[in-house]
Amino acid sequence: TTRVLTGITTSGTPHLGNYVGAVRPAVAASHVQDNESFYFLADLHSLIKAQDPARTQRSTLEIAATWLACGLDPDKVWFYRQSDIPEITELTWYLTCVAGKGILNRAHAYKAAVDKNRADGEDDDAGINAGLFMYPVLMAADILIFNAHRVPVGRDQIQHIEMARDFGQRFNHVYGRDYFTLPEVVIDENVATLPGLDGRKMSKSYGNTIPLFASRDELKKLIASIVTDSRAPGEPKTTEGSALFQLYQAFASPAETAAFAGAFVNGIGWGDAKQQLFERIDAEVAPLREKYQALMARPQDIEAVLRDGAQRLRQQYAMPLLKDVREAVGLRDLS
Ligand code: TYM
Repeated sequence: TTRVLTGITTSGTPHLGNYVGAVRPAVAASHVQDNESFYFLADLHSLIKAQDPARTQRSTLEIAATWLACGLDPDKVWFYRQSDIPEITELTWYLTCVAGKGILNRAHAYKAAVDKNRADGEDDDAGINAGLFMYPVLMAADILIFNAHRVPVGRDQIQHIEMARDFGQRFNHVYGRDYFTLPEVVIDENVATLPGLDGRKMSKSYGNTIPLFASRDELKKLIASIVTDSRAPGEPKTTEGSALFQLYQAFASPAETAAFAGAFVNGIGWGDAKQQLFERIDAEVAPLREKYQALMARPQDIEAVLRDGAQRLRQQYAMPLLKDVREAVGLRDLS
């Protein structure tokens, strides 16, 4: 069996980028026989940015309900909350002690924060918490603890998976045995980076997201605000670099996409193009939205599902693995 693992940080309301980049492919992979899937809520990661307890809780619930509404079956896949598995945090320390600091210095998110400080004339590390710096090690522990083979993610996470391989390999090397499987990154080439309203990558940090479960009206309004060029109806439009086109492509079959590209050449007006995009997205999302709302009305059921997943996963994999790892590094067996 192939082990497939991925997570979403609980730092806000899930958006179309998370859906297309992570949730949809992960749920599809979970229906493939011979896959053992691990899907989780990265709530420890969220603390780096979201230091508002109520918001963390709310977001955890929303993202859990999203996975379930999108067809994840908690009886068939491992579905859990990162913080319910304390072995992940423990493993983070053992990996920290083999991880090269120089590698962490080169992490994109950390470097971007430093570059911003420099541009603003501040000290390099002004306002940066050590959690941001250590982020890739916690993420490596998420992946290595369950010996995942494949990690489906969006392009922005590739470097993190490479680091997980590096830390796992160093640990194996230092302690002389293949304790950890080295994970492979999986990118869906069709939808590698979904653009947001302004054409940049859809991201909570850019404030350009379309919430996955926006109401129909809200969805329509947001789609109407997607940036386009100033070509008038009747003038041919280019699909290249068009956020509108890329969003459409992420939700349509190849045949529909080809037809949409044809309409661009034939000078479809932006208003019509936006209407078609709205209909396409709404057709896919509307049934999920209903399930999502029903789930959000029963938070205690979601909570029970998460606790059960973590409980079983700890017994079956996390605790035995940590027993081996403690022995490997020369610590006492706690069991
Ligand atoms: P996060 O929460 O930022 O995003 C969750 C997933 O959604 C993908 N994604 C996108 N894909 C396409 N287009 C976009 N505009 C877009 N925006 C987000 C992300 O690539 C990701 O796959 N560090 C991770 C969470 C994490 C994790 C892990 C993932 C923690 N531990 C272990 C895999 C394995 C993150 O912050 O993703």
